[in-house]
Amino acid sequence: MLTGPSSRLPCNYASGRGCEREKLSGAMTNDPQTSGPANPAASARGAELASDYTVSLHYDQRLYKQDIAGSIAHAHMLSKQGIIGEDDADQIIVGLGKVKAEIESGDFPWKPELEDIHMNVESRLFELIGDVAGKLHTARSRNDQVSTDTRLYMKQAAGDTVMALRTLQEAVVAVAEANLETVVPGYTHLQRAQPVLLAHHLLAYFEMFDRDATRFAAARASADVMTLGNGAMAGVPYPIDREFVAKELGFSAVTTNSMDGVSDRDFALEYLSAAAISAMHLSRLAEEFVVWSSEEFKFLALGADYTTGSSIMPQKRNPDFAELARGKTGRVYGNLFAMLTTLKGLPLTYNRDLQEDKEGLFDSVDTLLATLDVTTGMISGANFNADRMRQAAESSYVLATDIADYLVGKGMPFREAHVIVSELSDKLIDGNRYFKDLSFEEYEAASSLFGRDVMEIGVDSSIASRDVLGGTAPGRVKSAIVEAKARLQEAGK
Ligand code: ARG
Repeated sequence: MLTGPSSRLPCNYASGRGCEREKLSGAMTNDPQTSGPANPAASARGAELASDYTVSLHYDQRLYKQDIAGSIAHAHMLSKQGIIGEDDADQIIVGLGKVKAEIESGDFPWKPELEDIHMNVESRLFELIGDVAGKLHTARSRNDQVSTDTRLYMKQAAGDTVMALRTLQEAVVAVAEANLETVVPGYTHLQRAQPVLLAHHLLAYFEMFDRDATRFAAARASADVMTLGNGAMAGVPYPIDREFVAKELGFSAVTTNSMDGVSDRDFALEYLSAAAISAMHLSRLAEEFVVWSSEEFKFLALGADYTTGSSIMPQKRNPDFAELARGKTGRVYGNLFAMLTTLKGLPLTYNRDLQEDKEGLFDSVDTLLATLDVTTGMISGANFNADRMRQAAESSYVLATDIADYLVGKGMPFREAHVIVSELSDKLIDGNRYFKDLSFEEYEAASSLFGRDVMEIGVDSSIASRDVLGGTAPGRVKSAIVEAKARLQEAGK
């Protein structure tokens, strides 16, 4: 039998039919308790809006695989426990396979009026296998179902995000390794501060992405707890085997309080907050790409694939990809705040507000994965201008700290040395000169502690002197690269 009597389903259950009275909230009924709508036409329009208003199918249809996998595992368990017959379960499972095939081939007759993915799948199952489809929803509610589907999805998404971060980290390490000798001014307040190796600068981002990966792994662990079996919110009155379903679906654990289970969206918040932090890191890197590729800096040229021309100015190679990576951060932050705000006033347990968990979550997943991908390409394809960077480091006052440290080496208290070198710097800045232009006589005039060896201080000696754990000395940066590679290997890269 191929057509199911979907109209026999309860109102607003799978057919969407027979629900008018409830859907229209009394406005279109002859309920003697109400006086009827003042404006029937406006009210009819309101009814149409009201149903559109509740639809989530356009975004939750991406959960179809999880929904079908969840239903198959549930059907297996129901028959194993003798709650439904084995034949019934077999029919349901075969039918669900057909539903999946239809969705994947594009033949699935989507019905937005059925509101969400769960109703669409179940209603189609009715059409394909008939009344027996009605046994699938035994001992289950859409409340535990939707949460399990979303958790399954988020486990995958968080895992994908970790992998995308690892790929980006790999690219960062490769570019760092290729720039082990490239010198660049390090900045504070966007003022040239002290010389560093470009590799050291880039590896700072490796660390940020490493922490991000740890946060996404934690978000994945939070999602890795199954809610099926919570029912609507109190548990279910059947001898179900939750551990069996969890195992079938690859969950590490099951929730321990049904009321918390159906209303908990912490796993979503954890992904969203990890995404907000990671987007912030990507935005900082993007900002450096924008600034460094400007004509003022010219520290790098972005690959042609990552710039766009201007419709009016023929000379332009705009860093649009970096700008969008920076710009999209706002939306990723917004998604976190939207979710926090949706949750803040909700009484236990399920409230329809919770349907609002998905759109922003999916948007953050998509945006972040795309930004990670673009950033990986952008950093791998960037052409760093080593000469320009070295020149920027040398034509500046970045050696001032080293010269003060020289005096400290001769026994002067650091604060005193700071004053002397600060005065020297002022004098140089006024004369439009740099430390390398200072004669030994000028040093001597500033302090008798200066010896001729002060003339040997340069950007390379400055970098070499930062030989502490976490410092920019070449040996330390080389070890940092070795360690970074080991961390990636440990992470399965
Ligand atoms: N589409 C709904 C959601 O995403 C499914 C759960 C509906 N449950 C309910 N009691 N209305 O939350």
